[in-house]
Amino acid sequence: MTEKSPKLRAALDGIPTYKPGKPAAAGGPRAFKLSSNENPYPPLAGVLETAADAAASLNRYPDLACTELIAELAGRFDVPLEHLATGTGSVGVAQQLVQSTAGPGDEVIYAWRSFEAYPIITQIAGATSVRVPLTDAEEHDLEAMADAITDRTRLIFVCNPNNPTSTVVRRAELERFLDRVPSDVLVVLDEAYIEFIRDERVPNGIDLYRDRPNVCVLRTFSKAYGLAGLRVGFAIAHEPVAAALRKTAVPFGVSQLAQDAAVASLRSETALRERVDALVTERARVWEALVAQGWTVPDSRANFVWLRLGERTADFAAACEAAGVVVRPFPGEGVRVTVGEREANEIFLRAAEEFRKEL
Ligand SMILES: Cc1ncc(COP(=O)(O)O)c(C=O)c1O
Repeated sequence: MTEKSPKLRAALDGIPTYKPGKPAAAGGPRAFKLSSNENPYPPLAGVLETAADAAASLNRYPDLACTELIAELAGRFDVPLEHLATGTGSVGVAQQLVQSTAGPGDEVIYAWRSFEAYPIITQIAGATSVRVPLTDAEEHDLEAMADAITDRTRLIFVCNPNNPTSTVVRRAELERFLDRVPSDVLVVLDEAYIEFIRDERVPNGIDLYRDRPNVCVLRTFSKAYGLAGLRVGFAIAHEPVAAALRKTAVPFGVSQLAQDAAVASLRSETALRERVDALVTERARVWEALVAQGWTVPDSRANFVWLRLGERTADFAAACEAAGVVVRPFPGEGVRVTVGEREANEIFLRAAEEFRKEL
């Protein structure tokens, strides 16, 4: 009898694998990782101590309902407890959202290029991706996205600011778009980088969610809060969406370390905000330097910048790596570079300048 391999779902064939940002080369003092949009600052002292305390109970399962974290978030955002759901990073919550809404024959719309997990989690669910190209200004084309809605559409991701292009959608255009979306289609406002926005024309998704039952806001502790390694994100959504998220959650997926550190971070808001402000200042410096060198760079509203390099993408990434910083290339399209510690940004800017001279 010939050996057969276990039958796997055909939907998994050809799924693009999620490419994590390449780590910095080990050893050298000048190796910096600017490839994953992480926060360069280590966790705040109080947050570390809280996490260490939680580590003493690693023999126990965490609080399944994330009670304290949910209560803290509900108070912070003035939303009902039942409208909150947590997950293993916001990517985990995004996957639960797709699982909750879409299956074979259903469509999920998102801009492209955008966050690379969207096609993966859509395909895992057996649903079909509908990618709507960004505009020439690297922004969401919300008119085209609304035009792409069919009676099969179940979920639409709006990534604001968009990863990897760092561009935003503004209040008026987003409201116009939401007005066009049928009430039985879920719109997920992925606001992983919202704390870095300094543009009053960009809405806080929570204001839009309040009177729109088909709007869900996705947030994370991985970026501004600097807890990427702990894997905790959350959604704010009306019932029955929030209830569906609780059903699809991996039981005990958010560790007690993550829950306690997230609560401690929310309570250390002032110190965290100072760090975010410093990154925003540094972002402006990096952006201005790139523009002065002659690059066309979208005005970043996130903790990264985007250079559309086309065919020169791989060469540029290699030049940066040789100089001591690892960036995130999207072959044939462009390079996303996280705003990191000043020393790393300096190395990147020098590498960009050298590259530019040779064009
Ligand atoms: C737009 C966007 N959404 C969600 C995530 C997921 O972050 P996490 O799962 O760490 O919360 C990322 C991470 O890079 C992102 O860029």
